[in-house]
Amino acid sequence: MRLSLRFVLPLLVALGIVAYATAHLVDRLTLRCFMRDLDIRSSLIANTVHDPLEERLAAGRKGKIGEFFTRISQDERLYAVGYCASATAEITGSNTLPADIRCGDLTRWEGREDGLLQSPLGPLQIAIKPMVTDLAPDGRLVLVHDLSFIARRSEETNRYVFYFFLALAALISLITVIIAQLSWRGWMAGIQALLRGDGLVRQPALASQMTPPEFRPIAGDLQRLIRELESEARSRDESQITWTADSLRAILRGELRGEDVIVVSNREPYIHQHRGDRIEVQRPASGLVTAMEPIMRACSGTWIAHGSGSADREVVDARDHVGVPPEKPAYQIRRLWLTAEEEAGYYYGFANEGLWPLCHIAHVRPTFRSSDWAQYQAVNRKFADAVVEEARTPNPIVLVQDYHFALLPRMIRERLPDATIITFWHIPWPNPESFAICPWREEVVSGLLGSSILGFHTQFHCNNFVDTVDRFLEARVDRESFTVSLGGRLTAVHRYPISIDWPPAQEMIAVPMPQCRNDLRRSNDLPAGHRLGIGVDRLDYTKGILERFAAIERLLDVHPEWVGRFSFVQIAAPTRSGIGEYQHHEAQVRALATRINMRFERHGPPPIILKVEHHEPADVYAYFRAADLCFVSSLHDGMNLVAKEFIAARDDDRGVLILSQFTGAARELPEALIVNPYDADQCAAALHLALTMPDSEQRDRMRLMRGLIAEFNVYRWAGRMLLDAASMRRRDRILGSSTSPNVL
Ligand code: F6P
Repeated sequence: MRLSLRFVLPLLVALGIVAYATAHLVDRLTLRCFMRDLDIRSSLIANTVHDPLEERLAAGRKGKIGEFFTRISQDERLYAVGYCASATAEITGSNTLPADIRCGDLTRWEGREDGLLQSPLGPLQIAIKPMVTDLAPDGRLVLVHDLSFIARRSEETNRYVFYFFLALAALISLITVIIAQLSWRGWMAGIQALLRGDGLVRQPALASQMTPPEFRPIAGDLQRLIRELESEARSRDESQITWTADSLRAILRGELRGEDVIVVSNREPYIHQHRGDRIEVQRPASGLVTAMEPIMRACSGTWIAHGSGSADREVVDARDHVGVPPEKPAYQIRRLWLTAEEEAGYYYGFANEGLWPLCHIAHVRPTFRSSDWAQYQAVNRKFADAVVEEARTPNPIVLVQDYHFALLPRMIRERLPDATIITFWHIPWPNPESFAICPWREEVVSGLLGSSILGFHTQFHCNNFVDTVDRFLEARVDRESFTVSLGGRLTAVHRYPISIDWPPAQEMIAVPMPQCRNDLRRSNDLPAGHRLGIGVDRLDYTKGILERFAAIERLLDVHPEWVGRFSFVQIAAPTRSGIGEYQHHEAQVRALATRINMRFERHGPPPIILKVEHHEPADVYAYFRAADLCFVSSLHDGMNLVAKEFIAARDDDRGVLILSQFTGAARELPEALIVNPYDADQCAAALHLALTMPDSEQRDRMRLMRGLIAEFNVYRWAGRMLLDAASMRRRDRILGSSTSPNVL
């Protein structure tokens, strides 16, 4: 509307001025024409009255002249007639002749078409015509015409001119508004297309055909602007040497102007559990929580998650909020309650029996049930409602976490179109052939494309996702910028390798190394000098725990010198135990550990110490610090933060990491001993190598790995996403429209 007014108001002012000038001009022209007509008419009357007047003058009937004049001035317009025999004579005239007209004064009007006299009746035109007779050669006839009819005509004309211009203004305004709106939309679409990367910006070869002609002069400028925005975020990332909670806070306050941050995940970062008659706070074994928690401490904001603890309801306020960390609250958890059916269908069913095995190549068949799908949709909707309730602004930054919420980005987008939605998929993304197994593949992919940014750990997973989009959706995929456009909105698909808090919290590394080693050996009945390996995982079939145990058995077969001198502590946090496959897996793990231990039992301490229970992060760090090696043998893993935590725990620069080649972490940590977990011989050789590796080599490898994590810590992971989000929001502001696309 404001845009239309901008066009219409000046138009109306201009038309008003033209209308006023036209009325004035028409008035003047009409008056002049009428005056000329009246003058001609006066000459005619003068000619007509000459003879009768001369007769009356000759007859000396002066009195009759007045009557004669009164009679002829009965005419509608001829108001009065008078006669002067000479300049000094008395005027003889009709009884209407104005007293101001005297024979001595006639020169005032003589020879003029526009001789006017103002009278109480209105304007009168005075015409003086020579009336030459034998008796009075200087005679003058005075003809007075009433001009009030001209005023009436002029009023009428002005009215018509007014209506005419009114109709003209309405018509022109209407046409202008329509043209302005259509052109504006066209220009906006053109600029948006240019900013999205169409036309000149991304495809110079097609430039001339694709760029609308109006935009060709500015296409280069827009292209530069896009490059500047992109490189600004990149250089900001690169120029930031150490990424800390403070640098993240600075980005939030500076680049994002302290905007509204909402995190959504299924797992909550703090779980309140009943332990006897007291309430205990538990930190779940979750890579996602490990990464997001320090971010939230830095950013404040709200973390929406499923309230799954037995005492969760008792500690929340009326709006289901609780401040955390409990010792010094820095942000809020908003807990959402799920019914047993919802949890069974959404979490255990679709997420963990469907998507989880679908995305991990661990050779466990995915199970898809339509009843699970219905619950998955309903729970995603429930979380979308919570996001809308928690948003303090119409354009919050929403960080959607993981495969539990594939539909959530689109649902949020529909309710909060201006939100910046950053979705991070913490697990691998399979190739399109594998993903095709999912009966709701289109819905899942299109749900994720509600995101502004969609992040994966590795470029390989980004490629798989983009290939999947290409295969199943009618979407435009730009492989140069790695963006997908669906329904006019862009999603940037980028790689953001997740990491951990660095430097690690002081309380995690407070206990000295020798004490950690002694405590651990004592509590597990191990002799001094006994060599120790550590594995820390959720009890999940993707983690390759069975393969790990098989490798340990192989080590003891191939290198019997380690029998009775080496034990492997496996911390296995119970997980998803409601699912048959997990129960079966736990039974297999327990059985294998028992069999191997029984095989070697007479030679001293058991080779495998299996601890199927939850451990708090500080206890896990104590194990990391006490161990000689850490073995991560995942069959498939998005990243695996256990590997990075082991490195963070080793401030003595010792310890060897054995890492599966099928983890995202393997791409960043080539200094680890990289193994194929399916190859027991290779893994056994790696275990032996680790146990015999000289201190100097351990130090060199560990220092390089610690350097990498110090540089690429979790603040950088989040900071890069937030910087990209900030560029995107800046671009949206340039476009100045809520419908503007999101482009990186
Ligand atoms: O690896 C995927 C993931 O969602 C992680 O982000 C997290 O560490 C883990 O699974 C948690 O699993 P759950 O919440 O089912 O125990």
